[in-house]
Amino acid sequence: MVLLVNGKEILQRAKEEKFAVPQFNINNLEWTKNILEECQELNVAVILGVSEGAAKYMGGYNAVVGMVKGLMKDLDITIPVCLHLDHGASFESCKKAIDAGFSSVMIDASKHCLSENISITKEVVDYAHQFDVTVEAEVGHIGGQEDNVSGSSLNATLEDCLALVEGTGIDSLAPALGSVHGLYKGEPNLDFVTMATIDQNLTIPLVLHGGTGIPDYDIKKAISCGISKININTELQIAWHEAVKKFVVDNPDVYDPRKVIGSGNDAIKAKIREKVQMFNNK
Ligand code: 13P
Repeated sequence: MVLLVNGKEILQRAKEEKFAVPQFNINNLEWTKNILEECQELNVAVILGVSEGAAKYMGGYNAVVGMVKGLMKDLDITIPVCLHLDHGASFESCKKAIDAGFSSVMIDASKHCLSENISITKEVVDYAHQFDVTVEAEVGHIGGQEDNVSGSSLNATLEDCLALVEGTGIDSLAPALGSVHGLYKGEPNLDFVTMATIDQNLTIPLVLHGGTGIPDYDIKKAISCGISKININTELQIAWHEAVKKFVVDNPDVYDPRKVIGSGNDAIKAKIREKVQMFNNK
């Protein structure tokens, strides 16, 4: 039987040994297959992130669980794989993912005031923990654009992080500290001092969203300041798109979707390899 692991099983070791587990967001079957195959080849644990929009695109949460478990069985995937809802916007959405078999969820109630964020997040934790599903939550607000999640940045404070963690019992925390989803306008400006302070005051792992476009030296610094999970979405999409654009121009008569979509496979895998090696590089 194919078993998914929850976030705790993967992230606690990363926190102790100071490296970061990648969350790669999936969009379709090809994405999922490439990520599973490359991470198996590299023999590293991976978190498959699924936004609400991506889940809907793939048919729904049950379709995603079936696809991931089916691929893991058919491809003989033996590395730890966590299937994680990215930016769940409500208790109902998180519940649907959990009921379908996701092993981890993020409840993003960061658009609400802190007390409301705590109360929504706690409801998700109470439900999720009955099924050994782990919960990530956000405090402050991560800026930029990803599917239906957008807005301007608002950095987290230590006090708010402590209140959210103590008031909910979450398993990992994404404090907004200057990273944004999608492409950066100018250089990223991460607040490493607050990041390190938050890490020193918490026992749960910290998550960095908006991994695309953060230079390698800042990624390494973030890991040294306590980041144990780094989310990457846009960068894989750009790598895939560049390769497919070239293929279509070079092969105008090829119409087989397997060849067109698959022409981005190597580029996706190369980007995964680059990220995994950097995140494990202490
Ligand atoms: P990027 O699209 O900037 O890589 O961010 C991904 C992310 O944080 C998913 O939650």
